[in-house]
Amino acid sequence: MNQSGCMTVVMGTQWGDEGKGKVVDRLSERSRAVCRYQGGHNAGHTLVTEAGSQILHIVPAGALHPHVQVAIGRGTVISPAQLCSEIDDLQMKGIALSGRMHIDPRCHLVLPGHISLDSYAESRAVEMGGQQIGTTRKGIGPAYEDRVARRGLRFGELADDKLMRERLASLLERHNFLLRERYAAAELDEQEQLDMLSAQAEQLLPMMADVPAHLMEQAQSGEVLLEGAQGYLLDLDEGSYPFVTSSGTCAANALPGAGLPPTVPLRVLGLAKAYNTRVGNGPFPTELTGKRGERLQQAGAEWGATTGRQRRCGWLDLVLLRRAVRHNGIAGLVISKLDVFDGWSEIALATDYQQGRYGTDWSREVTDIEWETLSGWSGKVAGCRRPEDLPAGARDYLTRVEELVGTPVVAVSTGAGREDWVEFSDPFQASASFTESAARYTSSSE
Ligand code: IMP
Repeated sequence: MNQSGCMTVVMGTQWGDEGKGKVVDRLSERSRAVCRYQGGHNAGHTLVTEAGSQILHIVPAGALHPHVQVAIGRGTVISPAQLCSEIDDLQMKGIALSGRMHIDPRCHLVLPGHISLDSYAESRAVEMGGQQIGTTRKGIGPAYEDRVARRGLRFGELADDKLMRERLASLLERHNFLLRERYAAAELDEQEQLDMLSAQAEQLLPMMADVPAHLMEQAQSGEVLLEGAQGYLLDLDEGSYPFVTSSGTCAANALPGAGLPPTVPLRVLGLAKAYNTRVGNGPFPTELTGKRGERLQQAGAEWGATTGRQRRCGWLDLVLLRRAVRHNGIAGLVISKLDVFDGWSEIALATDYQQGRYGTDWSREVTDIEWETLSGWSGKVAGCRRPEDLPAGARDYLTRVEELVGTPVVAVSTGAGREDWVEFSDPFQASASFTESAARYTSSSE
């Protein structure tokens, strides 16, 4: 029984790819429900279990546990084609979602027109001599654009054949106009789109549900996870604008993204890699270029799960991590990929630099970074399962991160597998008071 009804937000504190899928999968063992609250199939979660490796893009990462109810909240944009294919893939592997997958009718759909427009816009930016955002080209930005412009197609509208035809026709008219006139590209065929969507609707509509009601019910008897996608630094407002994604990735978006009332108490867990990575363009103050960046990229196998692109790599940026903790009220950190530093003699941390006014000056080249260098460790973090198994140097590293960020590390992921996990304290007991949150603002030099 969860008398407080407190729900747990699991979010990335960096530019995505912090290993949220693994953490959500791990915490799902002790949860009743998991709800994705923003983003779309631009996310990519790789889950490694005894049964093998599974990549999920839109199905919530708790899905591999048969006892877990999974939900897609209204802050998310859904590609029906991708969702059907993930559901089929899981089904083939013996993981059935029927009866435990719940989709909010207010979710907007990502259609083939959005995907084409995203891709052409990126290519055009290069042709015009401008800079690409470096999007995943999955149609996420254009789908959110149609949502705020009040012309999008919502999941629930698939249940009304007449409405679906009307909305699709008017959306396609616009998408085809842009494809033809702006990009001189092939138009999409209305009948073909309609046939595809009707078939997808047939498969997905039985999963339409009152997601908020379902989550409120589940929260009365157990833990509910609210799963973020991307990360804090890709947030539309807080992130390195304009090199961001098109949704709010912060914890404050978890309740509206799941459709929940603001009276629901939240606990926020923030995930950080032991170093920083980024795919796509945009500023990256601690980026390592050349051989050292390559070493980190190879050691961490840093290729995007969604696009296969090589990730840019750099040392852990504690200035940005502190900002993520402050803005999201993070009560506990989970550190991933610490095992990547097994065998390294030195590990650096960026402890301070000037942020510019209000921390929004992303165009400034950062040249005043203060570094702290810690020595590495002998022994291995990889595969450790208990705190006492960790090499002393690795524990020192974690203690230093805790000190410099001012937030406890509740767990460390020590490898890709589900069991590669060391827990220092119960993540479901992590808490951050208003006083602590307020102190982060008054003590900040930003
Ligand atoms: P979009 O979300 O596809 O529009 O891409 C916008 C920016 O967010 C690009 O820099 C992408 O590389 C980045 N991005 C989107 N989703 C992810 C993710 O799941 N992990 C890491 N980066 C992402």
